Amino acid sequence: MTFKDREIQELQEVALREIQAAQSAEDLERLRVKYLGRKGALTQILRGLGQLDPESRRRAGQEANAVKLALEEGLEQALKALKTAARLAAVPAVDVTLPGRRLPQGRLHPITQVNQEVCDIFLHLGFETVEGPEVELDYYNFEALNIPADHPARDMQDTFYFNEKVLLRTHTSPMQIRTMEKRRPPVRVIAPGRVYRRDSDLTHTPMFHQVEGLLVDKGVTFADLKGVLTAFVHQMFGPEVGVRFRPSYFPFTEPSAEVDIECVICRGEGCRVCKTTGWLEVLGSGMVHPAVFEAVGYDPEVYTGFAFGLGIERIAMLKYGIDDIRLFFENDLRFLRQF
Ligand code: PHE
Repeated sequence: MTFKDREIQELQEVALREIQAAQSAEDLERLRVKYLGRKGALTQILRGLGQLDPESRRRAGQEANAVKLALEEGLEQALKALKTAARLAAVPAVDVTLPGRRLPQGRLHPITQVNQEVCDIFLHLGFETVEGPEVELDYYNFEALNIPADHPARDMQDTFYFNEKVLLRTHTSPMQIRTMEKRRPPVRVIAPGRVYRRDSDLTHTPMFHQVEGLLVDKGVTFADLKGVLTAFVHQMFGPEVGVRFRPSYFPFTEPSAEVDIECVICRGEGCRVCKTTGWLEVLGSGMVHPAVFEAVGYDPEVYTGFAFGLGIERIAMLKYGIDDIRLFFENDLRFLRQF
């Protein structure tokens, strides 16, 4: 390697290091002039080649041209890198104008919500919550409730039986018996829970939810029943909603009444939902039958009481204007998110 060759190589190393270190486009332009300009270092070297012998001149010339290309390439790359760095520096690390990422939020099922609302109303009226088994004995579900063996509800068509004595409870009324067996009056309880019937259509599912109520004491009258249930309806559906007590029949209450509210859809005008009657049935109720008191060892000459049972799905359908009960159990998020 000749002296010239070494000089040219050293020049490339130094120049490229300076180009790497350049902080701006102006720095780079200055370096271009310094090395490649008309009076630049490389140009000077090329000029001096005349004194060399032809063979050395040829080699040094080739070398110098390669260095020239390398420096031009280095300048171009460095300029590009500076521009990219400038663009990145202009973008803030966190773009505060981007919409945030929402975390999916869970909520209570509408049936759970309405169940809590119903229970809350009765808790504020002084009732206490009790719970009992869904797999129930025939004795509690029917026998002790004065439902005779030939009653249609006992049919295999209506009730899910495990065997002759064990079944899925068809209502929450067995909790009346279970509670009175354990306590002495005064009794003031509600019993929410799942119940089961062989039934399935627009307004019936094989499993649904009820809340049972029972109040027993000395001197309880039908006026107490009306007062408590009217207060409930007014808190649930609004104080302006009309309430009516319609005579009915349940084996375990006497007298019995079903409670209707003014149709929440048509306000009593008559529509498809209330079947043009202007009224909607919301619960069953009555004065506890003396035969039921006898089954639990309460003296019917001393105590009186009233009981009621309401369906949570039915109340939820009326409250939210839902026309198909099955929507509650399909777990379609588009439906559930509305509550
Ligand atoms: N258990 C009855 C039903 O499921 C409702 C009811 C409860 C009626 C308590 C009267 C008293 O239809």
